[in-house]
Amino acid sequence: MRIAVYPGSFDPITNGHLDIIERASKVFDKVIVGVLINKSKQPVFTSAERIEFIRKATSHLDNVEAAGFDGLLVEFAKQLGASVIIKGLRTVNDFEYEFQMALLNKAIDPACETMFMMTNSKYSYISSSMVKELAQYKGDLEGMVPSLIIDNIKEKFEQ
Ligand code: PNS
Repeated sequence: MRIAVYPGSFDPITNGHLDIIERASKVFDKVIVGVLINKSKQPVFTSAERIEFIRKATSHLDNVEAAGFDGLLVEFAKQLGASVIIKGLRTVNDFEYEFQMALLNKAIDPACETMFMMTNSKYSYISSSMVKELAQYKGDLEGMVPSLIIDNIKEKFEQ
C-alpha cells in the first residue's frame, strides 16, 4: 500500500491545501495529513482545532486521515509506513525553501521521497497567513477556506 504524508502547520487549512489533498488522494492509497504540533511560531489555532478542521474538510475522502506530530517529519513518516512526503508549491518563492527541506529530509532518511504538486492556479495566492489577516479584519473568507470551517475561524477572531 502506497502511503503518503502531507505535512504542514495548517493554521488553518485553506482551499489550496484541500485541493492538494484531494489530488494526492487519487494518486496514493492513503494520505495522512500531518499537523506539526510544536513550533516556535505560536499558531492561532490549537493543534486539536487544526486537526478537527482538516477532518471536517476531508470527510468526503475515504483514504485521508489527519494526525498531529511533534519532532522530525521523516520519523513521523517512518512510523506511519509512509514512503512519500507531499509538498505543494504555489510560486517560485516556495521552491528554494522546499528544495532545501527535501534535500535535508533525504539526507536524514535516504528512503524518504519528497514529491511536489503544483497548486491549482485559482488558489496560488491563498496562504494560511493571508486567511488569518483577512479574518482579523472581518474580510470574506468564502472561496479561501473550506466553507465548513468559516464559522469556526470567525469565532476565533471574535474572542
Ligand atoms: O506549513 P509549514 O509551516 O510550512 O510546514 C512546515 C513543516 C511542518 C513541513 C516543517 O516545519 C517540518 O517538516 N517540521 C518538522 C521538523 C522537521 O522534520 N524539520 C526538517 C528537518 S530539521
